[in-house]
Amino acid sequence: MRVPGRWRRDLQCVLISEDQIARRVRSLAREIERELSMLPGGELVVVSLLNGTVLFLADLIRHLQRPMRLDFMGVSSYRQGTAPGKLEFSRGLKLDVRGRDVLLVDDILDTGRTLHRVIRHLRQFKPRTIRTCVLLDKPARRVKDLKADHAGFVIPDVFVVGYGMDYAERYRNLPFVGVLHPRMIASVPDGKRKIGPVESREGRR
Ligand code: IMP
Ligand code: MG
Repeated sequence: MRVPGRWRRDLQCVLISEDQIARRVRSLAREIERELSMLPGGELVVVSLLNGTVLFLADLIRHLQRPMRLDFMGVSSYRQGTAPGKLEFSRGLKLDVRGRDVLLVDDILDTGRTLHRVIRHLRQFKPRTIRTCVLLDKPARRVKDLKADHAGFVIPDVFVVGYGMDYAERYRNLPFVGVLHPRMIASVPDGKRKIGPVESREGRR
């Protein structure tokens, strides 16, 4: 699929089209339903990590049939551009998950630091089970020994945006997943990446 004209300057390619996402999200929901049906009854609590999951979550849960409650957690990693940084919780859980089956939803499983940290945090509230579901899995960059119970697509080590995922808070509204063009990610001398032309384009738009 060609990159729509509006985004041609910013994106290298469309990695996953809107149609592919829609099909896979439906089949992921079926997979999750099947797995949950093997657990003795009980109410599901879906815990979704902000902000990257908004589109994925909305599509996923509308295909889940069983009763559920929904909660959000905010985890910010103080990223420098595309490089992961220190993790901090910016929003805690509001619902009581004790004895519940938790489905933890995130956009991308990358190094694994985020999910690893969130799972450790959730365990202190004594849920019955914690299952993880991610839209994308980038196994090449994993530093934590962690596998998602449900993953939509396994992707190579590229920086993606769209369908909720951002670079410097932009591109979340794209209905597909695209690969960000490397020219949009500027390098700085200390080896860290910082926000590139995306920042400086504000005035030109
Ligand atoms: P991890 O802690 O390294 O597994 O990173 C997980 C988080 O980093 C995800 O929830 C995303 O918010 C973000 N992330 C990782 N890779 C990408 C990417 O390619 N595009 C946008 N965000 C990403
Ligand atoms: Mg995220």
